[in-house]
Amino acid sequence: MFSKSDAHDYINDLLQFDLAHGREPGTWYKYHNHVYGVGYLAQKMADVLGNVNSEKVWILGVMHDAGKIHERLERRFHGLIGYDFFKDRDFDIARISLTHSFHFNHIPSYDKVERMFFGKKEDYEFVKDFLEQHPANEYDKIIQMCDSLANCSGYVTLEQRGEEFSQRYGIPVPDYMACGANQLKDYFDKRLGCDIYSLYSELPANFMLKSGGDYK
Ligand SMILES: [Fe+2]
Repeated sequence: MFSKSDAHDYINDLLQFDLAHGREPGTWYKYHNHVYGVGYLAQKMADVLGNVNSEKVWILGVMHDAGKIHERLERRFHGLIGYDFFKDRDFDIARISLTHSFHFNHIPSYDKVERMFFGKKEDYEFVKDFLEQHPANEYDKIIQMCDSLANCSGYVTLEQRGEEFSQRYGIPVPDYMACGANQLKDYFDKRLGCDIYSLYSELPANFMLKSGGDYK
């Protein structure tokens, strides 16, 4: 299993890779804040829930978008890129790469996610089979939840995250996505015994980078 320090090293290597491939240094904060934001919220949830390993869930949170940086270069669904990177090294990271985008490990029909898969139907079929063989466990669900709540500058509501999605892609949030995210929030609000948003005030903020030249 990857350690916390392996995860930090991996993210730092990604930064170097991305800078070498034209990344504007002042935009690195977006990726950094999102993945570490997912890690810290996931860890907090684990502390309250008590049924998952909080160090493991932090690592999965930080690593869930391991394939994202290569997505635009390879034009391939980032979940599969991360899966291929890690399938022989750390199966839990490989798994979270594939599961984090699909609430409760349910994948919609191909026509709804064709763009996410860059039109590669064979990739879709592989992910569909994988998800059918791996029903959602608690780690999958926690990272799916946190991925919907941590953005590039902090923690937001599902509505705010939906708004961002619409602006970025120029389309309304698809029903399957909004519905899955709301069901996950209901699930965790009950399990946590509180509104998940109330955990935000207990999370660290010192890991966040500012926009601009801050990328170290
Ligand atoms: Fe993410």
